[in-house]
Amino acid sequence: MTTAAITGTGLFTPAQSISNDDLVACFNQYVDRYNAGHADAIERGDVAALAHSSSEFIVKASGIKSRYVVDREGILDVDWMRPRIQTRGDDQPSLMCEMGVKAARQALQAAGRSAEDVDLVIVACSNMQRGYPAIAVEIQGALGARGFAYDMNVACASAAFGIQAAADEVRLGHARCALVISPEICSGHLNWRNRDCHFIFGDAATAVLIEPRAAGRSGAFEILGTRLLTQFSNNIRNNLGFLNACERPQRSWDDLLFRQEGRKVFKEVVPIASELIVGHLADLGLSPEQVRRFWLHQANLSMNHLIAKRVLGREPSLEEAPVILDEYANTSSAGSVIAFHKYHADIQSGEAAVLCAFGAGYSAGSVVMRRL
Ligand code: COA
Repeated sequence: MTTAAITGTGLFTPAQSISNDDLVACFNQYVDRYNAGHADAIERGDVAALAHSSSEFIVKASGIKSRYVVDREGILDVDWMRPRIQTRGDDQPSLMCEMGVKAARQALQAAGRSAEDVDLVIVACSNMQRGYPAIAVEIQGALGARGFAYDMNVACASAAFGIQAAADEVRLGHARCALVISPEICSGHLNWRNRDCHFIFGDAATAVLIEPRAAGRSGAFEILGTRLLTQFSNNIRNNLGFLNACERPQRSWDDLLFRQEGRKVFKEVVPIASELIVGHLADLGLSPEQVRRFWLHQANLSMNHLIAKRVLGREPSLEEAPVILDEYANTSSAGSVIAFHKYHADIQSGEAAVLCAFGAGYSAGSVVMRRL
């Protein structure tokens, strides 16, 4: 059977970004207003006072220093505190399509391919802008690609699941040139008024091009294997869905946004991801020491450090497990691909590398590659 290779990657980064200090200043203004507006109830003990956030806490707890967003102004407007996104007509491209196309064109250029070569588009990400038509089909049309397209959502692990799906289609001969696109507008599902998580997400879009190994130039990454797993957990949850308008009683607005039990996620996902990588490498006859680089999902700096440490059995270097979350925050499914996109040029022919993504579900996926 043909083996598949990653022949190009692309990244779209929004032009606007928000530093921790800017974010915290807006959040604390909101807290002061809330507490002043509820002073009597707080005094009576009927309402709990809100507490300030702090940049020091954010960096220490997560490693995040800033995040790119599609609309800085709306997020930092204390009366709104979420992106302001212009409603578009059905005849205009959606925002997700626009971001995805930009990342896809870069991936095609990196691989020396044109949009007409593409015969499969998978949009793999956490949040779809609408139910249907699929964003992937919209992107297929916008690019002028052939073949077929579909959306899939496996939260932060989506890109790994998408890469396996695309590599399988290529191996089986159903596609010859497949794009896996992860446009993430996480700023739209984040509760910017929740102190526990208001700092964790950012926006970005990535694209990965997958072709038969024989079609890949030297410098492409042959996919040696993919492995996926899921295990049900409510510790990361978003109740937004098409039945919300029918539900009685109606859910509160903040129940339709992202929420998590961060501590539990940290504790439970570290072993899932590290054991997945170790087992996958062993079954491919590789030891962790033979892996030049680990592109891990970017949610928390200490978490990634611990996963890499468990895999290697020693302290990992930044060169072995590069970090982009300091600048991008958690961009959900795009995170591990951003790390791959930015930190692959120095990998030598014959060297192995691993992309591993993990998140809500729980879900986790690893992709083991070797540079051609
Ligand atoms: N500013 C200041 N203090 C804050 C704060 C903020 N923004 N948010 C919480 N705190 C306080 C808490 O009230 C708590 O205080 P206490 O000890 O007096 O009770 C303390 O800081 C610790 O809070 P906690 O929520 O336990 O922090 P944490 O160390 O677990 O860090 C995360 C929070 C979210 C950064 C961390 O748990 C994490 O990243 N987990 C992994 C999440 C993940 O991978 N998710 C995948 C999503 S795709």
